[in-house]
Amino acid sequence: MPKIISDFMLHARELAVRGHGFVEPNPMVGCVLVNDQNKIVGTGYHEKCGEAHAEINALNAAGPLAKGATAYVTLEPCNHQGKTGPCAQALIDAGISKVVIGCADPNLEAAGGGTYLATNGVEVVYIDDELCKTILAPFLHRIRTGFPWVICKWAQTADGYIETPEGEDPWISCEGSQQLVHEERGRVDAIIVGIGTVVADNPSLTVRNAEAHRTPLRVIVDPTLRLPHNSTVLDGEVPTLIAHGKNVDKTAFTNYPVSFLELPEVDGSLDLRPLLTHLVNKYDATNVIVEGGKTLFEHIFNQQLANELWIFTSQRTIGNENLKNMTQLFNAWDCILENKQPCGNDLVCRYHVK
Ligand SMILES: NC(=O)c1ccc[n+]([C@@H]2O[C@H](COP(=O)([O-])OP(=O)(O)OC[C@H]3O[C@@H](n4cnc5c(N)ncnc54)[C@H](OP(=O)(O)O)[C@@H]3O)[C@@H](O)[C@H]2O)c1
Repeated sequence: MPKIISDFMLHARELAVRGHGFVEPNPMVGCVLVNDQNKIVGTGYHEKCGEAHAEINALNAAGPLAKGATAYVTLEPCNHQGKTGPCAQALIDAGISKVVIGCADPNLEAAGGGTYLATNGVEVVYIDDELCKTILAPFLHRIRTGFPWVICKWAQTADGYIETPEGEDPWISCEGSQQLVHEERGRVDAIIVGIGTVVADNPSLTVRNAEAHRTPLRVIVDPTLRLPHNSTVLDGEVPTLIAHGKNVDKTAFTNYPVSFLELPEVDGSLDLRPLLTHLVNKYDATNVIVEGGKTLFEHIFNQQLANELWIFTSQRTIGNENLKNMTQLFNAWDCILENKQPCGNDLVCRYHVK
């Protein structure tokens, strides 16, 4: 791909990710309009679900300068009347001469924009850009599988432990890392944990000290309903769902503000796939974050449901073989490192699961 194309597409991609947490279940999309002197005349991105698409914001920014320009857009322009009008027609009406598309739209309802543009005299180029596909991955995954994008996140010591000995400082990651997690919580649709973690840590599973673009649903996987009645997740502060097994007695929980979902069994454990489908169908979820513990991660691994691993590694070591360690499980995951950055004294790595 010529560098000039990849530079404009990169710019469009950087714009697109600004919509993360605001646009879902829509895709994140960015658009850059460039004139025949290779000067940018307008930019835009999809800022919020239900509001104008990236192309419309870019056309509005360019005004009359859009005439004859090339549009670089991360996703194929839509061709349907949804909450907003079709972008393909708007590009034609504005006199755009060429559209470079980072990724074709697999959503049958909205697709066909490229063909419509081409049949109306606009030059259309698909570049099948890997970076565009990366930012669209949760959206594409949801369309293709009916499951949300599953991010498994944990904090571990330098020697792989996710638990600390009783009586010692329970925090593994630094404050900066915890801040990053809260920011991410404010962009996802659900936070899922196993009952072991609720019993051990009594977490709130809410977004704190960070902007919440959306309120994630709390999900507890609790096969036999052994959730203690004094658990913070029963406080009603945010919507909460308990996924349980067959033949549980829910009467003791009647007065608590929680919902329930019964899951079938597969190979002796709860099948988590109907839970993921339920999160898409009932809660319109696109991204969910699984925050442990190790047993739940093992089930996610066995059922091949993880899309991304997000690991915070501190410099602390523990070396106690009786505690839960993630090294072996992590090594079994077939994944590639996407991003690695320091955060305070921690190292933060994101892996894409193949
Ligand atoms: N460092 C970190 O990032 C981090 C994060 C989370 C937790 N932790 C630590 O990890 C420890 C808890 O880990 P854990 O492994 O004991 O607990 P867990 O994974 O939170 O919960 C395990 C329990 O959840 C239920 N469960 C989850 N998925 C299931 C499935 N698909 N099928 C059937 N049952 C399922 C089972 O409940 P039943 O036993 O009732 O059958 C299982 O024993 C705590 O010490 C906590 O502090 C650390």
